[in-house]
Amino acid sequence: MSTNFLYEDYPVLQDTVPHVELGNWPTPLERVPGISSQPLLLVKRDDLSHSLYGGNKVRKLELILADVKRKGFREIVTAGGLGSHHVLAVAALGRELGLRTTGLFFCQPVNEHVLSNLLLEVEFGTEMHFVRDYPGMVLHYLGIYLSRRLNPRRKTYLLFPGGSNALSTLGYIAAVLEIRRQLREQGLPDPAAIFVAAGTGGTAAGLLAGIALAGMDTLLHAVRVVHPSLLGRQKIVGLARKSLKLLARRGVEIGEAASRLDERLQLEEGYLGEGYGFDTAAAQEAIRRFKEKAGITLEGCYTGKAAAACLDYCAARDGETRPVVFIHTASSTHRASSRAEAERELPPDFRWCFAGSPCRRRCSLKGRNRPFCEIASRDNWHCL
Ligand SMILES: Cc1ncc(COP(=O)(O)O)c(C=O)c1O
Repeated sequence: MSTNFLYEDYPVLQDTVPHVELGNWPTPLERVPGISSQPLLLVKRDDLSHSLYGGNKVRKLELILADVKRKGFREIVTAGGLGSHHVLAVAALGRELGLRTTGLFFCQPVNEHVLSNLLLEVEFGTEMHFVRDYPGMVLHYLGIYLSRRLNPRRKTYLLFPGGSNALSTLGYIAAVLEIRRQLREQGLPDPAAIFVAAGTGGTAAGLLAGIALAGMDTLLHAVRVVHPSLLGRQKIVGLARKSLKLLARRGVEIGEAASRLDERLQLEEGYLGEGYGFDTAAAQEAIRRFKEKAGITLEGCYTGKAAAACLDYCAARDGETRPVVFIHTASSTHRASSRAEAERELPPDFRWCFAGSPCRRRCSLKGRNRPFCEIASRDNWHCL
């Protein structure tokens, strides 16, 4: 029997929405009283969702990979920044189902976390292509699409960065049902607030849709970690609505949920810093506190920024009597790859990351690509 509460609460979905169970469910919902003055701060440990590679992608991929298998595809092409957790998760979980993964990687600031993820890609067997920037990525997708049209025997599933769509968003509707049950088991009411990092917005959209579907009096704080040109309120609300409508088409009674989304969303704008992947002092402080007080590891690109917003909220609401839930979305289960060996196998296009030198590949946007090139002359990681 599935441990996904979407199927338990809405049995009609067993026959209408394919799903392959890959993760360790339910993930723990732990109290972490020492981190802030808020005694009911809880961490949803989705970092533990899969033993090979955990994090938020597992809930999404259980639905996407079921779709991939059902349609008879054998290869997935997807994309992300150099340190993409999404591409890593697709490679790790896809391999479990006998699927090959091709990853298209665009620039982001290179740090130890990014380097370690690149090495893991090698270990997970990803076919890696460095596409520099967004236009490069789009051209690669197009090229692969056209070449597969000419060779229909190579059945390739094209999955866009972050894997956020109406289907995968159902994964975080299920997470809300899971959280609600766990709170009940601990004798706690619905949370006043849920905090999550928002990149492509699918995780936030699922949580928002889940809150509305369950009729909870909870505000979702989606913490922006990407440039506003890539994510806005409408994208999150729109995706949540599409996902609820998908449920309705598959036989679930959604009531007024789709019209009650906007009021339950707070998009937190103050934690991005200079851009995607750039460190902030607030994120570093949150990372330190989670580690020292609760032994929980966060990273700087997503979870550190979301945790910083969550800690500020807790500090400003000393009298809050309802729980506050922080969703831990970054894997903490994978082990680091053995560096020397993986580095040798890294495609030549990626070696510049390890050499501590600029990429020296000509960026087609020549500094006009704000999310990636704005800090151009100061830091040493970008295309020249
Ligand atoms: C660790 C982590 N947290 C949060 C997110 C954001 O998820 P979404 O793209 O669904 O907004 C990502 C996306 O890559 C991620 O890797």
